[in-house]
Amino acid sequence: MNSLFCRIYQGAMKVGMYMLPWHTPEVIEDRADSDRLLEDIKRREVERLLVVMGPNMMKRGLPVPMLEKLRANGIECEVFDRLTSDPTDAQVEEGVRLYNEKNAQGIILFGGGSPMDCGKAIAARIARPDRTIAELQGVLKVRSRRKVPVMWAIPTTSGTGSEATMAAVITDHETHRKKSINDMAIIPHVCVLDAGLTAGLPPDITAYTGMDALCHAVEAYTNNAYNTALEKKMAKDAVKLIYENLEGAYENGSDMEKRQNMQRAAFYAGRAFTRGCVGYVHAIGHAVGGLYGVPHGKAMAILLPHVLKAFGSSAEAKLAELADHCGLSAEYGVDHDDRTGGCACPAYGAMKGKTTNNGKARLFIEWIENTKRSMDIPDRFDCIKEEDVETIAKWADAEANPLYPVPKIFDRKQLEDLVRSVM
Ligand SMILES: [Fe+2]
Repeated sequence: MNSLFCRIYQGAMKVGMYMLPWHTPEVIEDRADSDRLLEDIKRREVERLLVVMGPNMMKRGLPVPMLEKLRANGIECEVFDRLTSDPTDAQVEEGVRLYNEKNAQGIILFGGGSPMDCGKAIAARIARPDRTIAELQGVLKVRSRRKVPVMWAIPTTSGTGSEATMAAVITDHETHRKKSINDMAIIPHVCVLDAGLTAGLPPDITAYTGMDALCHAVEAYTNNAYNTALEKKMAKDAVKLIYENLEGAYENGSDMEKRQNMQRAAFYAGRAFTRGCVGYVHAIGHAVGGLYGVPHGKAMAILLPHVLKAFGSSAEAKLAELADHCGLSAEYGVDHDDRTGGCACPAYGAMKGKTTNNGKARLFIEWIENTKRSMDIPDRFDCIKEEDVETIAKWADAEANPLYPVPKIFDRKQLEDLVRSVM
């Protein structure tokens, strides 16, 4: 697919994006069992809830204080946890049946990506009882937000950003094919960001999910076209929060301040990419994950610096802005412009060559590489087989082009070279 066609397509999409009903969920930064969630539910005059969560959640006890609090205050909560890690259309239908049977008025989405996807799909089916999941998959097939049940999203990891996105990926239980429902109508109404729910995550999950959030933010920020000032600010702020907090949360999982900042970062990044889109890191990562079962966040972390390097000068200005925003440039003393011939300051030696956009972009990529290393994330995949390279490139091309407004458009051959560079 040639670049000119992609850019024309993206230009038309950009115009269309302004006509769509984007919104940002209201945020409650507090414990899930605090008065604030209860008050919000009461304010919306909701008395019966479907609570969608993964099958191990109740065993782990994470939602128990919230459920006890709500039930003690007269809110009926029906737990629906018969989900797999890739929720199916059949599971969604079971949730819809339960929602109707209990005469529920709203949905709590509690957990990681799977309950978020399933809960959003249940909400879509409640709003559109005339359509099957297959008929709702695609773009803007739900449409009527008016009839969508109120959704409170409560993430228990800091990564997917699903609490702020318009997508719900559902697998067909017969064909096993995954497809996404994409509609602003299913962006949750409220997010509860509670760091306490992420306190028990093991370090590797903290690392992978945090790097996933970083990819959302960096890809949304380096993309052209669809973002407004709001998404740009959210993406930048997410990157800064991750820069300041991810390694600390990895090293000390009980640092609640860092955990809370990571919750906020994942939310900002999710909201930024749901309009701004992701890019080739995700497109290639989805293909590698689909073929070899590599965890999503791990694939993202491996790919991110390689893809940013492959963009070369086309992403430098944006990466330099991110380096500045994080304070990376200041740490290295960027006030010393090496284009003017340098200065006598001792910091100049270390900074030489890193004060231009090119230099700042390199600093930013070096930070990602160092962060990966410190969290024991490998630099390359050990699973990719040469005979699969063509397929990975083909799938990545099909996902990314022409929709993702990446800084530089790669053709199939360039994508194959990129895949080989991470083997
Ligand atoms: Fe992701």
